[in-house]
Amino acid sequence: MTPAIEPSIKRKPAPKHIAIIMDGNGRWAQSRGLPRTSGHQRGVISVRNTVKHCAKMGVNTLTLFAFSSENKNRPSQEVSLLFNLFLTVLNNETKKLNKNNVRLKIIGDLSIFPEKTQKLAVQAQQDLQQNTGLNLVIAANYSGQWDIVEAAKKIANKSANEKLNPNDIDNKIFEKHTSLAKYPPVDLLIRTSGEIRLSNFLLWDIAYSELYFCNTLWPDFGTKELDLAIESFHARDRRYGARKDK
Ligand code: IPE
Ligand code: IPE
Ligand code: MG
Repeated sequence: MTPAIEPSIKRKPAPKHIAIIMDGNGRWAQSRGLPRTSGHQRGVISVRNTVKHCAKMGVNTLTLFAFSSENKNRPSQEVSLLFNLFLTVLNNETKKLNKNNVRLKIIGDLSIFPEKTQKLAVQAQQDLQQNTGLNLVIAANYSGQWDIVEAAKKIANKSANEKLNPNDIDNKIFEKHTSLAKYPPVDLLIRTSGEIRLSNFLLWDIAYSELYFCNTLWPDFGTKELDLAIESFHARDRRYGARKDK
């Protein structure tokens, strides 16, 4: 049963952009004597619930960290399991996302994924392109440093081809070349599982995001935990370095 939304959350508009470092699948499984695999599988259910809840609340963009550039360094068995899971999710969830009017964008270096997965990723994004509800962004083989380097490469190429004067490069122009250029600024960044670090997730994009860390392991993260994070967000005083009494 979906828990009732706290009145304070109902009154205030939902954050426009929520980003989540979905961490703790392995520990969730290990604490139950299960293989890490089942933690990742159970994590997909949390993704489904979070997407639905965000769509219902009118969140504009939800960005999920699914696989970091550094996750390639895990044992090959776990990496191929995660790749297979990604393929299965793309296969199984696109119809449900469509029903919920969700648009899909996958960011990161997809070239390491099997061709079948890359094709399906392109297809799923195309199939959901016309939707007008939640923008779901999945970061796969992604890192914040990679994103900044990619933006720098694009800008350097434009300058080399004399399409951009290096003296005109400013924050706005730089931002236009990053993966999240088309989406509103990240309002709220959540990390589950008690780790208090960014692990190379969004870097450029979280300059003024509100950060929320909770101990809940990702497979246990449900609508109640998301509502708590949003409640905490609503209690923040966002000053952006300025003063209200100016
Ligand atoms: C997060 O869970 C999922 C991915 C990184 C793909 P972990 O697999 O990192 O789980 P823990 O942190 O080991 O518990
Ligand atoms: C970050 O979690 C990556 C994802 C959640 C996809 P990790 O579990 O890989 O991060 P570290 O190793 O604890 O920093
Ligand atoms: Mg982890």
